[in-house]
This record gives sequence, structure tokens and C-alpha cells, in this order.
Amino acid sequence: AQYSDADVDRFFDVAISLVERAGILVLHAFKQPSSKVTTKSSDTDLVTETDKAVEDLLIQGLSKEFPDHKFIGEESVSSGQKFELTDAPTWIIDPIDGTTNFVHRIPLLGICLGLVIEKQLKAGIVYNPISGDLYTAKHGKGAFKNGFPIRVSNTDALNKAVICTTLGEHNFKDHGEKYLDTALSNHRKVVLSGARGIRTFGCSSINMIYVAQGSIDAYIEYGLRCWDAAAAAVIVKEAGGYLIDPTGGPFNLMSRCLLCAGEEKLAKEISSLFTHAKFEPESEAVYY
Ligand code: IPD
Ligand code: CA
Ligand code: CA
Ligand code: CA
Repeated sequence: AQYSDADVDRFFDVAISLVERAGILVLHAFKQPSSKVTTKSSDTDLVTETDKAVEDLLIQGLSKEFPDHKFIGEESVSSGQKFELTDAPTWIIDPIDGTTNFVHRIPLLGICLGLVIEKQLKAGIVYNPISGDLYTAKHGKGAFKNGFPIRVSNTDALNKAVICTTLGEHNFKDHGEKYLDTALSNHRKVVLSGARGIRTFGCSSINMIYVAQGSIDAYIEYGLRCWDAAAAAVIVKEAGGYLIDPTGGPFNLMSRCLLCAGEEKLAKEISSLFTHAKFEPESEAVYY
């Protein structure tokens, strides 16, 4: 089937109303003193009842309206599973991006929904129900925060840039000693880079959103999963951002690595600093 812009609009409107409902669940749970936490692959890999409830709400709501749509959701896939991508509209879901922040009551998290059709990113929604900020973008139609257009920064020099990366988490534990050395040497290079500021917020979608709205000038991370980046990648692109796979080539959602920045020159400078760690792709490539 061919899908028109009007179809994408229809899919998107249903998704927005579900994301808003999911936001009520997350906000309510966030206001409680604590939630029941379970660990998955390791002590740093957390899941709560709210992650699961949000994912169920989104998948059930979307499949009721659109029975032929497919889903890749963080809490529904089994570990090590390779994704079978078809050309059908496929929702890539991170019910709570930033679960550790959620569990520790740090208000930086995102409910993330990315839409892929014919292996191309078409739309993205990132909603932080704690701040009430809703970020949206559709391919070719610009990026918005609460309905207002947003734009990346034009900082192209590292000494004027605030850059964002990640510390620890999956990167150290899942990929063994060899990757540990690479990660540590990259951390060292970031510290010595001469950047104006270095931040690590514990939430990849918020990191990317900050690039999209020009708060952060660049963000680099290795080892991401597709749901960490699907929604926000569309928003960064539509905000005029430069997005690549730092290990080479254009940004591919399934390659597990990304570098985004407001300016290509800054992206290239940061990219040249790093030792690049390659990961096994999650599936066939998905481009913007
Ligand atoms: C994590 C966060 C974190 C990033 C990890 C992700 P989760 O997502 O986005 O910032 O460094 O790669 O796994 O597990 O909280 O959804
Ligand atoms: Ca997780
Ligand atoms: Ca995530
Ligand atoms: Ca998550």
C-alpha cells in the first residue's frame, strides 16, 4: 500500500491522543513516593509497572484503530531478538525513555513514539509529562515544541558548544572489556575536548530534544537501541539538525550509534575526536 501525508496525519493524531493518556499514567506514578522496580539484564537495566502499562496502552490503542500496523516496543521484545521489518507502518515505542530517572524521580524522561513506513522514518513524538512538554515532527513538515516551531543552534566551534553524551549504563556492562576501554578513552577525550560544557542527562530522547531546540549543541552515543532514537531523530532532522552514524555513513536508526548536532562542522569535529565502536545492527537499515 502507498501511504499519503493525510494517512500519516491520521496515524499521528491517534498517536498523540494516546501519548497524552499515557502521560497521565506516568505523571501520576511520578508523584507517588516510589514505584515497584524490577531489574532486567543487570542492576542498571530497570523496568517498572508504568513502563509496561504505557507500552500496553499505546500498542492496544494503535492496533485497535489500525489493525495492520506493526510494533517494536522496548518492553515487548525479547532480548537478543532481531527485528523483522516489513514495509507496513511500524511504531517504534519507548514507553518511558529514562526509566532510571523515573525511578529516582529526576524529571527528565520521554514517552517516545516513532513511525516508520517502508523503512523510512516518517514521524516522531516525544512527550515529557512531568514538564508538560510535547515535541512533535513529521517528515518534511518541521519540528514543534507545544505547537511552536523549534530550531537547532548554529554553534559550530567546540569551545562555544555544550555537548552531551552518556556515562556508564549499558555501554560498559553489555559489551565487554574491549568496549569498556573504548568508552573510557572516549570519556577522557570528551573531558579534554575543550567544550564549553559537558552534560549527561540519562535520557537519550531528552538529549536529542535539547539538540533540536538548540539548548545543547551536539550529542553522541554508542549502543543505543532503535526505540531510544526513533522519535527524536525525526524531531532533530526537522529542526534543521545534522544527524549521522558516527561509525560511518548517514544516520541509520538500526545501527545503534548516533551523533547529532546543530551544525555539520561541529559534528565532524566531535566525530574526529572519538574512537568509534561498531555494533551489530538491529535489523535492515532504516533511514530518515
Ligand atoms: C536509556 C536512556 C539512557 C541511554 C540508554 C537508554 P531507558 O533508555 O535513554 O539515556 O543512555 O542507552 O537505554 O532504558 O531508560 O528507556
Ligand atoms: Ca530500559
Ligand atoms: Ca530508552
Ligand atoms: Ca524505556
